[in-house]
Amino acid sequence: MKIFLDTANVEHIKEASSWGIIDGVTTNPTLIAREGRNFEDVVKEICSIVDGPISAEVVSMKSDEMVEEAKGLAQIHKNIVIKVPIMPEGLKTMKRLKELDIKTNATLIFSPNQALLAAKVGATYVSPFIGRLDDIGHIGMDIIRDIMIIFENYKFESEVIVASIRNPIHVIDAAIAGAHIATVPYDTLRKMVKHSLTDVGIERFLSDWEKVPKVK
Ligand code: G3P
Repeated sequence: MKIFLDTANVEHIKEASSWGIIDGVTTNPTLIAREGRNFEDVVKEICSIVDGPISAEVVSMKSDEMVEEAKGLAQIHKNIVIKVPIMPEGLKTMKRLKELDIKTNATLIFSPNQALLAAKVGATYVSPFIGRLDDIGHIGMDIIRDIMIIFENYKFESEVIVASIRNPIHVIDAAIAGAHIATVPYDTLRKMVKHSLTDVGIERFLSDWEKVPKVK
């Protein structure tokens, strides 16, 4: 499974990327706003750190404007993927961007139907938001399982990015469901690598090593 980092924080991206496990980055307007920096500068810097798909979101609501915005963003770097919200104007946009050979990520997906429509217009990626479904009392992971079956039934080429991940269990469940990608917040990534028994084990090995007679 590919792991993307779900952040616009370049320090976190640099650190996680140095572990050798980051395949791409996803951003959204909220994550960009959190950094208090110019959008293009942040995106350019992320592209210089990670050599993989970097999602940047359009904020226009009409297809013509979305396409213009997307063309501008796509010029920043060859790895830019245009995040487009799932709605009728978004579907039109993703179809047009496919014809222009610009990669897209259908975002704000909350149902298998939305994922199916995004796949039909040729979205490169679809991003179901599972945490936000959990937040309102639905089981977010259920839609991942359904989407994986639907995409397999019809051999859709769109890859599924499990988004709005809140904890390490979400990542395990995404992997068990066979999702192509999990986009993970930095704090969740840190929790994935950590185990208290590992910490205790390291501590014990180091203190036992102190007792081993050393060659002079
Ligand atoms: O990048 C989109 C998504 O992962 C946002 O997550 O935590 O705002 O629901 P969240």
